[in-house]
Amino acid sequence: MYTRKLRGYIVVLALVFTSSAAFAQAPNLGKPINPGEIAAWDINILPDGTGLPPGSGTPAEGARVYAAKCSACHGQNGKGGPNAALAGGSPIKDMESEKTIANFWPFATTVFDYIRRAMPWRQPRSLTNDEVYALTAYIFSLNKIIGENDAMNAQTLPKVQMPNRGGFIIRFPDRL
Ligand code: HEC
Repeated sequence: MYTRKLRGYIVVLALVFTSSAAFAQAPNLGKPINPGEIAAWDINILPDGTGLPPGSGTPAEGARVYAAKCSACHGQNGKGGPNAALAGGSPIKDMESEKTIANFWPFATTVFDYIRRAMPWRQPRSLTNDEVYALTAYIFSLNKIIGENDAMNAQTLPKVQMPNRGGFIIRFPDRL
């Protein structure tokens, strides 16, 4: 009885040892990735504008792209349709308040990042950088955050002050 149990333990131990030896050598799955392949996915833009690509666009150019590729879901002039309004929105009062670009988003650069990586909903990553700058400019101009002739590019976009920039409270700053 005892010896049987002991034999069982020995078998288990032997398995543990062989499998950890196999892991130590790496599983030999996949293939090395080259920097060009990483760059295609490495599209994060930081709040200060780090990572913004070359390119530029004005609200007027953005209005044309918007009519063709966005208004079916977000409504004419960003008023909202089957999906969220991209213009307007009253100040946030409580948890139930609707969050919009004008009353919530703290950084202008995040709007660019979001549109580039996620929109149009069914064709993400299909827009050129010029189109994304133009759409960002158009949406900011609709919200009166920038003037209607202001071009957005890697220099001007990070300087745009969002209305709710000061609305976020860091609850535990010492834990950052
Ligand atoms: C097929 C419908 C569809 C189309 C077309 C579309 N969107 Fe969207 N959009 C959505 C949906 C759905 C969401 C919400 C996604 C979520 O909350 O996860 C969204 C969210 C957004 C947001 C974030 C809004 C917020 O306040 O959080 C922005 C900005 C945006 N879209 C911009 C655009 C732009 C610019 C275009 C055109 C290039 C576009 N969208 C085209 C469906 C669409």
